[in-house]
Amino acid sequence: MAKPGTFTCTACGAVHNRWSGRCDACGEWNSIIEEAPLSTGPKGKTLGGKRGTPLILTDLSTEEAPPPRTLSGIGELDRVLGGGLVPSSAILVGGDPGIGKSTLLLQAAARFAGAGLKTFYISGEEASAQVRMRAQRLGLGEAPIKLAAATSLRDILTTMESEKPDLVIIDSIQTVWSDTVEAAPGSVSQVRAAAHELTSFAKRFGTSVILVGHVTKDGQIAGPRVVEHMVDCVLYFEGERGHQFRILRSVKNRFGPADEIGVFEMTGAGLAEVANPSALFLSGRGAPTPGSVVFSGIEGTRPLLVEMQALVAPTPHAQPRRAVVGWDGARLAMILAVLEARCGIPFAGLDVYLNVAGGLKISEPAADLAVAAALLSAREDTALPAETVVFGEISLSGALRPVGQTENRLKEAQKLGFTAAITPSGGKTTGDSGLKLTHMGDLTTFVGDIFGA
Ligand code: TYD
Ligand code: MG
Repeated sequence: MAKPGTFTCTACGAVHNRWSGRCDACGEWNSIIEEAPLSTGPKGKTLGGKRGTPLILTDLSTEEAPPPRTLSGIGELDRVLGGGLVPSSAILVGGDPGIGKSTLLLQAAARFAGAGLKTFYISGEEASAQVRMRAQRLGLGEAPIKLAAATSLRDILTTMESEKPDLVIIDSIQTVWSDTVEAAPGSVSQVRAAAHELTSFAKRFGTSVILVGHVTKDGQIAGPRVVEHMVDCVLYFEGERGHQFRILRSVKNRFGPADEIGVFEMTGAGLAEVANPSALFLSGRGAPTPGSVVFSGIEGTRPLLVEMQALVAPTPHAQPRRAVVGWDGARLAMILAVLEARCGIPFAGLDVYLNVAGGLKISEPAADLAVAAALLSAREDTALPAETVVFGEISLSGALRPVGQTENRLKEAQKLGFTAAITPSGGKTTGDSGLKLTHMGDLTTFVGDIFGA
């Protein structure tokens, strides 16, 4: 019997003591459902278990080499994993349905199998024949991967225990169900139990597991966030459906830097690596136009140039529109407020649209100045000087703050043929990037010098 009064958010897994329309923890609407609690063991004493033997940290040999990682040979994937696949690790790959998770993982499985790992691809969504057909279409028909179509956790674990694979891919965790849990497949308790069993299996038997998790909008199915805390590494596969670019982003990694990105392009023959993403994100840019500014950003350990596009137009509505794609709406509101309060440039009565070209999502505050430049350039209908990159953080006082990795940002810009940069004063540079640098201390100076406003 389900214990009444257990309400769980299917988006983030937070537990509430009553139902409400919106989850306080993650802000998602209509995601809370009543759920059966996880089945527990016999009631009563908790003592009486097996006695463990803790080790002293310094007793652990430092001579021992760290476990060897396996490289897939897909450079963009290996970098996001922090330098290849760590043995016995548990990895979650989340993303919208149809974004290309199965395609990516089938390609990765083929490469890892080729690198000598005994690889299983377990699909709960497609029949083995369908997976094989897809593999053939991707030119991977001959890869030594073992396929299985299974959804029962018991069957999967039993197979894993007898076959002892090095890598198991579960596509997707939402289809796996355990017969010990009294809840529908895909529910928070099922997904949690399955992920828990699979990750602990990974640690015990030296198998790496990759769990695929669909980001769901439907409140009945648990999302990948529910298992984020259980795994070693959380990757999200992002992109706009209409664009061919896909970005694999590490949001958590126990074995490498977080926030690292890998860039792929969806082609007719599967996902192709994009080795020089700056060139890709800037392709199709013509002569300088008002509202377009190139931002020199850092994603993970790598510099990346992207075009920020703004459009500012008089509004017929009482409440002007603020629409943002690829950046934070609250951050845009802040920049507009600073421009108005500190520089006397009002945006009231004007619709504002901001877009990061190529379907990329930017979260760095270093993009502030590029956004402000794009907004001003659109509003004043004046293009920025040609071949100029912009970056810097804007504070509420209107002061410009230097940002990290100034030198790397400048070098990347120079590599792609840019000749000038506008940056806050005080950034650490050696000055040998070859770019003409314009340093600004505050936003008012920037507005005056660049736009004469
Ligand atoms: P898929 O990997 O099935 O997505 P997910 O597992 O994340 O749900 O990818 C589905 C999309 O990818 C589908 O719309 C078609 C496209 N695609 C290609 O463009 N080229 C290809 O070679 C493949 C296999 C898929
Ligand atoms: Mg899929």
